[in-house]
Amino acid sequence: MKNRELLREKEMLLAEIEAWNLELEARVHEKSEALQKAQAEIVQSEKLATLGYLSAGMAHEIRNPLNSISLFVQLIKSGMDDPEKLEYVDKIVKEIDRIDGILRKLLDASKRPKFEIRDVLIHQVIDNTLEIFSPQIQLHKITVNRDYRNIPPAIKADPSELEQIFTNLFLNSINEMASEGTLGVFLDYDQKYITIRVSDTGTGIPAENVPYVFDPFFTTNSRGTGLGLSVVLRIVKNYKGKIEVEKSDATGTTFCVKLPL
Ligand SMILES: Nc1ncnc2c1ncn2[C@@H]1O[C@H](COP(=O)(O)OP(=O)(O)OP(=O)(O)O)[C@@H](O)[C@H]1O
Ligand SMILES: [Mg+2]
Repeated sequence: MKNRELLREKEMLLAEIEAWNLELEARVHEKSEALQKAQAEIVQSEKLATLGYLSAGMAHEIRNPLNSISLFVQLIKSGMDDPEKLEYVDKIVKEIDRIDGILRKLLDASKRPKFEIRDVLIHQVIDNTLEIFSPQIQLHKITVNRDYRNIPPAIKADPSELEQIFTNLFLNSINEMASEGTLGVFLDYDQKYITIRVSDTGTGIPAENVPYVFDPFFTTNSRGTGLGLSVVLRIVKNYKGKIEVEKSDATGTTFCVKLPL
């Protein structure tokens, strides 16, 4: 009897050890996942910091000579009457403007230009941005679906920075929907976060591209600079918020932004 009891006790102890092992494994797994995520975030923010450092210097250095090129081209243009050559000069001016636009975007991506904190109602920022895009929305025959569950109270923020978040997200979505589609905006909040979802019915981001879309200069558009989403990420991070590609398949893409209340 004593022997049997000892055997039972041994079995119980083994089962207990087994349970501990399982729990330990689960915890190690959980911690490694958290570590991986933290590491990915460090890489992401290092990329942003490098971008800021490089671009501020580069943009400044390139813009000065570009300015004088522009001035000299204007001078050449004023003394010219051959229509063919005038056309070439106009093309040069257009391309200079394009370079300047890229440099401006780079500067936007790397620093906060005029930073002004106010009480901001986020649904108003979204509505204003949608208003600005209404010509493009009409042109692309896009239906806007506003799903405001609960209107969040005002938060302390720079309205023009928040507007940039939505400008860049809407621009990408509208670009994805060449003709017809639905642009969805979902808004809600709880005790901690304001949640905004921007969705489109475009062709989606290929799964292999999803990890890179927030990287500076990652683009699949021939005319894109690949800075739109890295600007969005920088601003969201400044507000201690989060952003992720929540869904992306052949039926469209959804970005989810969470900002602390
Ligand atoms: N709504 C979307 N649907 C499908 N693909 C998207 C969407 N948003 C972003 N992407 C993908 O992510 C890439 C990066 O987007 P991002 O806005 O950073 O740069 P861009 O739009 O290419 O150029 P830029 O915004 O600087 O003009 C895009 O080129 C595209 O491949
Ligand atoms: Mg973009």
